[in-house]
Amino acid sequence: MTPDTRPKIAIYPGTFDPITNGHIDIVDRALNMFDKVIITIAINAEKNPLFTPEERISFMKECFRGKESRVEVEYTDGLIVEYAHKKKAQAIVRGLRAVSDFDYEFQLALMNRKMQREVDTIFLMAGFRWIYISSSIIKDVARHGGDINDLVPQHVKQALLEKFTR
Ligand code: COA
Repeated sequence: MTPDTRPKIAIYPGTFDPITNGHIDIVDRALNMFDKVIITIAINAEKNPLFTPEERISFMKECFRGKESRVEVEYTDGLIVEYAHKKKAQAIVRGLRAVSDFDYEFQLALMNRKMQREVDTIFLMAGFRWIYISSSIIKDVARHGGDINDLVPQHVKQALLEKFTR
């Protein structure tokens, strides 16, 4: 068998409204396994985001400044698996926080595999410190003036404060 010399590329899709320290942890760990991680803002039709795609992209670029050769940040309004195929990615990375995430993720992964067999889904357990957080919970705490210091980068915290004090 000839060795596969293609660069190892992973897509990390999500709503990222906004990016949290938990997401950053997943990207950093995916970088230990892949040459490149393409963070992709995708549309979840059931969500009504607080931040525009442009705002979310700029928050993420700031988080990975200096790693531009290995971390790309993009947006797609199509199927994630088609996007992964177009980008020649071998895998979609998803973080699992709790058993409650499993059913939905299982469905997504199987449906994606049915549509595109060459793209596999890889699950990383969320870091223990981030297991209980979500973008919605952080927005809710920020909206009510609670402490989100350890949960998001400073520039994201600042943007949340500005949104909620307008
Ligand atoms: N740390 C912190 N929070 C985490 C996390 C981690 N490691 N991993 C997940 N989360 C949180 C997110 O903040 C998010 O919180 P929220 O619900 O409060 O916004 C939640 O877990 C899960 O959301 P996310 O990972 O952003 O996924 P999603 O369910 O919003 O989006 C897509 C799923 C974008 C991947 C999916 O809708 C998609 O693929 N859309 C494109 C169309 C498509 O291909 N559909 C699938 C057809 S099979």
